[in-house]
Amino acid sequence: MTSALELREVRKQFGRTEIIRGVNLDIAKGERHALIGPNGAGKSTTFNLISGRIAPTSGSVKLNGFDIGGLPPYKINRMGLSRSFQVTNIFHRLSVFENLRCAVLWALGYRYSFWHRLEQLRDARERAEAVLELIGLQGRHDTPAGLLTYAEQRALEIGITIAGGAEVILLDEPTAGMSRSESDHAVELIRRVTVGKTLVMVEHDMSVVFGLADRISVLVYGEVIATDTPQAIRNNRRVKEAYLGTTLDEATGAH
Ligand SMILES: Nc1ncnc2c1ncn2[C@@H]1O[C@H](COP(=O)(O)OP(=O)(O)OP(=O)(O)O)[C@@H](O)[C@H]1O
Ligand SMILES: [Mg+2]
Repeated sequence: MTSALELREVRKQFGRTEIIRGVNLDIAKGERHALIGPNGAGKSTTFNLISGRIAPTSGSVKLNGFDIGGLPPYKINRMGLSRSFQVTNIFHRLSVFENLRCAVLWALGYRYSFWHRLEQLRDARERAEAVLELIGLQGRHDTPAGLLTYAEQRALEIGITIAGGAEVILLDEPTAGMSRSESDHAVELIRRVTVGKTLVMVEHDMSVVFGLADRISVLVYGEVIATDTPQAIRNNRRVKEAYLGTTLDEATGAH
């Protein structure tokens, strides 16, 4: 079966430094995949390469079997891939609902002609309401996004990411800066909004990773040193070395 995402020998050089050094990834349709690794390993850069923010120096990136390497982000988005950013990316003065409606309209804009504008607006409103409910922020419908709690803003950001109906979702550190109970809540939210979709997630919090991922890839200095099930990753010698032996076990509660 065709992979949702396939990276083959992807390389990226900034100036003379090679940051991504021959990455291979195969992510199946419907899989929840975590990309982990130390700071500066190249995780966000990998997301930038997949989502079209930057073009690979060499190698191929395929979405549902179609070559997307070097395409601009909006085209890749139109082909069904949506990403969130490591830093929140919402309009603070717009209400929660308006933020979602903007995201829906932006996505619908490509599919609807000028002559369908009224339908488009009605459709966008309904979809925005549905996403609002899915992310559990119905009570915040008219609240300016800037007044939400930090955890609510991250939930809204996930809502914005999925609002256009993309089938492949990339989330970059969705629980960064959250308390334990907030990130537990976020795990449930991510699980709910990605049912039937493909998820690739960069995440440092190992209980989130091990709670959500079907498989995990470990990126170290721009190379994937292992891709496997959570259990196998936990026992992988190279991974343990990369994490200096203890961090993974401590973080996942293994003994
Ligand atoms: N546009 C750029 N130009 C030059 N160097 C870059 C650029 N983008 C990223 N880098 C470098 O590439 C390396 C990987 O960065 P990246 O942001 O992908 O790491 P990361 O794995 O996401 O780290 P973190 O866990 O801290 O978010 C870093 O050394 C960074 O400084
Ligand atoms: Mg990053």
